[in-house]
Amino acid sequence: MIRLAMKKYDRNAPCWCGSGRKYKQCHMQFDDKITLAKMRGHEVPKHEMLKNAKDVEGIRASAHINMAVLDEVAGKIHIGMSTEEIDRIVYDVTTAMGGIPAPLNYEGFPKSVCTSLNEEVCHGIPSPDIILKDGDIINVDVSTIYNGYFSDSSRMFLLGNVAEETKRLVQVAKECVEIGVANTKPWTFLGDMGHAVHEHALKNGYSVVRQIGGHGCGFQFHEDPWVSYVSQPGSGMLMVPGMVFTIEPMVNMGGDEIYEDEDNHWTIYTKDGKPSAQWEVEVLVTEDGCEILCS
Ligand code: MF3
Ligand code: CO
Repeated sequence: MIRLAMKKYDRNAPCWCGSGRKYKQCHMQFDDKITLAKMRGHEVPKHEMLKNAKDVEGIRASAHINMAVLDEVAGKIHIGMSTEEIDRIVYDVTTAMGGIPAPLNYEGFPKSVCTSLNEEVCHGIPSPDIILKDGDIINVDVSTIYNGYFSDSSRMFLLGNVAEETKRLVQVAKECVEIGVANTKPWTFLGDMGHAVHEHALKNGYSVVRQIGGHGCGFQFHEDPWVSYVSQPGSGMLMVPGMVFTIEPMVNMGGDEIYEDEDNHWTIYTKDGKPSAQWEVEVLVTEDGCEILCS
């Protein structure tokens, strides 16, 4: 095979990935495939964004806390509770396990978790004045820093008697993530995955938010690549083993238009006031597909 990879790597030197193996026996062919995709005009990942085995273990430990926090919320959430109480649970469980809630003070975000109800699309701010009521749907979006590694996932919760059409929205939003996971494979494109997600939402009569998407995660809260779920096949970054990112489409019952809260500059709402649902997982691209690290 013709050597396409940049000559800056010596074939017999230790691989850049830190495996300790020789480059030619480790990531040399991998780099050639990336270079080829780049020559064909595709967006490709930088080495710095890829996670090695040690990094993945670090993210797993962080995700262990993140998922325990969400499990605790799942067990305690109830009608009559304030979103401030959810914030308290998230802060207490995270810190008791040695973690740091990533949202707290992130770009000025005032709380430890995002709690987004009904027509709130994302970035809802917990408050003692927001009380969960019968028929509400809520997204609880938890992110944890542990030992320098970041994890991020969110789940939906249904309170009491939720309208059938709203339950269906929550269900389809979950299926959209499952379809995203099924379409996350190395040497295909983020746009292939995003397109499959969008198709599923459209087929069910819903829309997907365009301006806000997923993101690389692990070394930072939000890293490259940005991940759209309204995308064309063959577009977006090439997925390769070692990439870690979130799959978190925001699925709207009505139109895809949104607006930001003019007072807090965080909370995003649907323009038409119809409900929005979102589930989020953090995945690792593997040799033959992907693995969910955090859910
Ligand atoms: N957890 C959100 C995400 O999935 C980001 C929230 S940013 C915050 O990307 F500051 F609002 F927490
Ligand atoms: Co996220």
